[in-house]
Amino acid sequence: MILVTGASGSVGRRLVRRLAGTPTTAFVRDPAKGDALGGRYAVGDFDDPATLSAALKGVDRVFLNAGGAVPAAGEQPMVRQQLAVIDAAVAAGVSHVVKLSVWHARVGGKLAEGAHGVIEEYLKASGLAWTILQPNGFMQNFSTGTAVTTHDGHLLGAYGDAGVSYVDCEDIAAAAAATLTDPRPGETFVLTGPESLTHSEIAEKLSAFVGRGIRYLDLPAADFATHLTTLGLPDSFATDVATLFAEVASGRLAPVSTDVATLTSRSPSTFDTFLRENATQIRAAW
Ligand SMILES: NC(=O)c1ccc[n+]([C@@H]2O[C@H](COP(=O)([O-])OP(=O)(O)OC[C@H]3O[C@@H](n4cnc5c(N)ncnc54)[C@H](OP(=O)(O)O)[C@@H]3O)[C@@H](O)[C@H]2O)c1
Repeated sequence: MILVTGASGSVGRRLVRRLAGTPTTAFVRDPAKGDALGGRYAVGDFDDPATLSAALKGVDRVFLNAGGAVPAAGEQPMVRQQLAVIDAAVAAGVSHVVKLSVWHARVGGKLAEGAHGVIEEYLKASGLAWTILQPNGFMQNFSTGTAVTTHDGHLLGAYGDAGVSYVDCEDIAAAAAATLTDPRPGETFVLTGPESLTHSEIAEKLSAFVGRGIRYLDLPAADFATHLTTLGLPDSFATDVATLFAEVASGRLAPVSTDVATLTSRSPSTFDTFLRENATQIRAAW
């Protein structure tokens, strides 16, 4: 039995769909979201250990996935939550955990990179067999309203002219399904799309697709942080986000990896394919 945590999320629900036919339980907070997934599910919360233990009965493999970085003071909540899942998995006798992390995860990194770095180290020291998936930014950030925009609908950031090899959540889910059904213990995979695009190129593609002029406006990192505080984000979070964006501007998210193809035996989706396959959400978001 596989337990998929974060099953209602952007990767989790695609993974549950791909695992149809393999004994799988989706871990959800909201029964309505479990019903919508259409298969077996357990209701619980990472912050309620008893629900984790109950959901892990009879489970031998776990997909470890929770929400991303949030404007919280101190340690990111995902650290406490994912460490609780790892502890419960050890206690339940789980054999293998596939963890959804982030590219460049490392102890001491900013926001999600630092939080995932701590969780990765904890998982590696747990005695469980593990596989780590380190995706680049999700293409779905451009269909869910996660991308930062101006009040009149242009793309805003501090990425400069650097490319980013965004990856489609469908490809992350396919890679996760592959490593859950054909385990690759002790391996870390970097998941990217097949091409590196600048944010000006992404804005051009969005413009052509939705039929409205969308530009990419690039700000110096400090100005971008100030803009985020005007949106209500705490100063320290805004500064960390701007620092991460400035690191992206150095090109660290531009390289293209072959790991999606290695795990799934097919090429990852291009941004154009992502636009076509998510047309309704893209048009609603832009
Ligand atoms: N977005 C990106 O570009 C990106 C890039 C690389 C890596 N990542 C990583 O990918 C992961 C998923 O990120 P996301 O923002 O895309 O998340 P998401 O799709 O919103 O998924 C988060 C999932 O966690 C569940 N969850 C949250 N709190 C929970 C709790 N207390 N108990 C049980 N379930 C809980 C959510 O359930 P509900 O439906 O009930 O809220 C949801 O199913 C994060 O670890 C993030 O760091 C993201």
